[in-house]
Amino acid sequence: MRHDDARGYRVNTPILTTKKLTLSFDEGRIHALNGVDLRVEEGEFVAITGPSGCGKSSLLHLLAALEEPDAGQRWFRGCAYEDMDDIACFRQQHIGLVFQAFHLLPTLNVLDNVLLPAVPTGRQMADHACDLLQRVGMDHRLQQYPAQLSGGERQRVAIARALINQPDILLADEPTGSLDSVSAGYVLQLLSELRQSMGLTMLMVTHDTDIARQADRQICMRDGRVIA
Ligand SMILES: Nc1ncnc2c1ncn2[C@@H]1O[C@H](COP(=O)(O)OP(=O)(O)OP(=O)(O)O)[C@@H](O)[C@H]1O
Ligand SMILES: [Mg+2]
Repeated sequence: MRHDDARGYRVNTPILTTKKLTLSFDEGRIHALNGVDLRVEEGEFVAITGPSGCGKSSLLHLLAALEEPDAGQRWFRGCAYEDMDDIACFRQQHIGLVFQAFHLLPTLNVLDNVLLPAVPTGRQMADHACDLLQRVGMDHRLQQYPAQLSGGERQRVAIARALINQPDILLADEPTGSLDSVSAGYVLQLLSELRQSMGLTMLMVTHDTDIARQADRQICMRDGRVIA
């Protein structure tokens, strides 16, 4: 039997579900997604693989509610995205995002970059940010700027930033794609430890078959569809 929790989400349902998601660009000339059905359980680590242009980033963007689909549906713990009162608030509370190119703000130091997603919440998060930066091994660089950090260090800061609002789901788009193999191994190990200690659900896009093998489950996409 299903029960609603205090915030109206159903428990004992998948954390994410999609049905027949489609997304196109250029007035329908480019089909990025062609009917994606997905089901992700709480706490799962899912690797998303597939050739360039098959729709992996597009899928993450729809799950993060950064884009709207042409058709199809998305649910978070049984609640349809279109029924949510404030989709930005949903994203802020439940989704953490990590990108291949880090996307740190160059004019903010490490601590302020991590604190940035917490600004709209109005909560004082400096202690939490320092704690996260300690967990990613960057607490000794709080006052430095992204340009003063290596690629692996920037990605560790970006991971701390993704976790500042204590999300339930981490969406990572080739988080090791810009890193050398040593830094990539470190970042991956870190993500794995954080995922387990925080009970996160993680969807990670990767081209690396060794990384994909470490996931609980692999999803392979082609031409805007999940094929396996
Ligand atoms: N803003 C956009 N405008 C037009 N076309 C786009 C846009 N974003 C994505 N596309 C197209 O949609 C398709 C899917 O793109 P997407 O970025 O999701 O692929 P991907 O699987 O993440 O590729 P990669 O592995 O190279 O990152 C591609 O054909 C791409 O060119
Ligand atoms: Mg991509």
